[in-house]
Amino acid sequence: PVSVFPDQHTASVSVAKRIADLIRSKQDKGEQAVLGLATGATPVGVYEELVRMHREEGLSFRNVITFNLDEYYPMQPDAAQSYVTFMNENLFNHIDIDKDNVHIPDGTLPKEEIHEYCLNYERQIEEVGGLDLQVLGIGRTGHIGFNEPGSAPNSGTRLVTLDDLTRRDAARDFGGKENVPTKAITMGIGTIFKAREIILMAWSQKKAPIIKKAVEGEMSSEVPATYLQLSNNVEFVLDEDAASELT
Ligand code: F6R
Repeated sequence: PVSVFPDQHTASVSVAKRIADLIRSKQDKGEQAVLGLATGATPVGVYEELVRMHREEGLSFRNVITFNLDEYYPMQPDAAQSYVTFMNENLFNHIDIDKDNVHIPDGTLPKEEIHEYCLNYERQIEEVGGLDLQVLGIGRTGHIGFNEPGSAPNSGTRLVTLDDLTRRDAARDFGGKENVPTKAITMGIGTIFKAREIILMAWSQKKAPIIKKAVEGEMSSEVPATYLQLSNNVEFVLDEDAASELT
């Protein structure tokens, strides 16, 4: 299903509310909530609202376990552009989550250790009972996580090569495309698919063409997000601009 909101703020507040409801309902049962999280511009408003709910409404993240979708490779965690820094600044530093419950792919591993590390990332997700909710943005290549065109629907967590357009879109953060890493570690499409609920968010006109392809286009590895059409548990949460090319 597709939900269209008048603007990105209203949409973000609604997604944050769903996350908070999930966390609270798990709390009531004495259970942990397992969240799959994304970085980038898209989820910033959701994280802001979650931080506000923590500060003003006592929303606690003590029972929350998180797995981030991806990290650049190579990447030092304390670098300004790392997804570790992003998550700390936008969410984790402002809430009461136990940092031992936070998982973000490690961009510092020697190449020969990555394969085993990725298998273990999958195992860790399974050991806590799987992802209750996966939050996604979408890249202009149609990537979800960093599953670029060509990714298989059953792919797992792995080292991937970033598309040229993805690196151009990241150029500003890195002071030039030449400084953007060429690789990343990402959860696979298969990993994302196992989540019990998936919310893909997109804002602005810039995302309208890829949203049209993702929602209405023919399913193809050329636009990895089209695989979401196979899932019964996915919701596209859009602002009016991102939805403007849908029929
Ligand atoms: C980030 C991620 C990416 C982004 C996508 C959109 O963890 O997995 O798929 O969601 O590149 O990025 P923004 O939100 O910056 O437009």
